[in-house]
Amino acid sequence: MQPTASERAPYNGLTQAEPTLPSSAYWDGENYQRDLDAIWYKNWLLICREADLAQPLAFRRFRIGTQDIVVLRDDTGELRAFHNTCRHRGSQLCQESEGRLKARLITCPYHAWSYSLRGDLVRVPSKSLPDGFDKADHPLYRVALSVWRGFVFINLQEDAAGSAQASFDPASGNLGNWPLETLVSGHVLRKVMHCNWKIFWENFNECLHCPGVHKDLSRLVPIYGRGQARRSRMDAPCRQ
Ligand code: FES
Repeated sequence: MQPTASERAPYNGLTQAEPTLPSSAYWDGENYQRDLDAIWYKNWLLICREADLAQPLAFRRFRIGTQDIVVLRDDTGELRAFHNTCRHRGSQLCQESEGRLKARLITCPYHAWSYSLRGDLVRVPSKSLPDGFDKADHPLYRVALSVWRGFVFINLQEDAAGSAQASFDPASGNLGNWPLETLVSGHVLRKVMHCNWKIFWENFNECLHCPGVHKDLSRLVPIYGRGQARRSRMDAPCRQ
């Protein structure tokens, strides 16, 4: 398939009108899978604050696309992330969304294989194991984890290396003057959005709708009431 004109053209600083994505980008399953593979399964993702898992044995689960990930603080204080999947028959290991592990082992609820908090398989109850079976060959699938100034990131790419910080856009500004490590969560609001993820971010990143939809906010922050947006989207028609 030939790239469209806007795909060929270099980034224009949003100084000219660009069409929106085609509607299939928001509902088509293949497009969604492509988003997952190209973005969500490849990049460092901010998932929580370090303080959210402050105590040893604290854990929390995160859903990224079809992937169920468990992040925990082990008994030495180290944060670790794994696919929440047993290496035996693929059962879900941690069933609750967050909490504190009851032991220094993660034991599968299905046939009781047990893993250390480092992800190593340490116990298999079966008396008859196949020849050549070596527990060392069956650790949990590890997920790369990186902490930057109190923010916890994971990266689902199999060979992910480096740090979240190394992936930041240097042009995004110098945050050195901000005491980010000292931030604490004051309030948490969780919401499930019944829409394609891009719908949310596009609306978040522009305020064309603010004067009409967020009247109180626009009164509080007058710039929002001016209906400003990425200008390219303001005049551009939707595509089918
Ligand atoms: S699926 Fe986990 S022990 Fe069998």
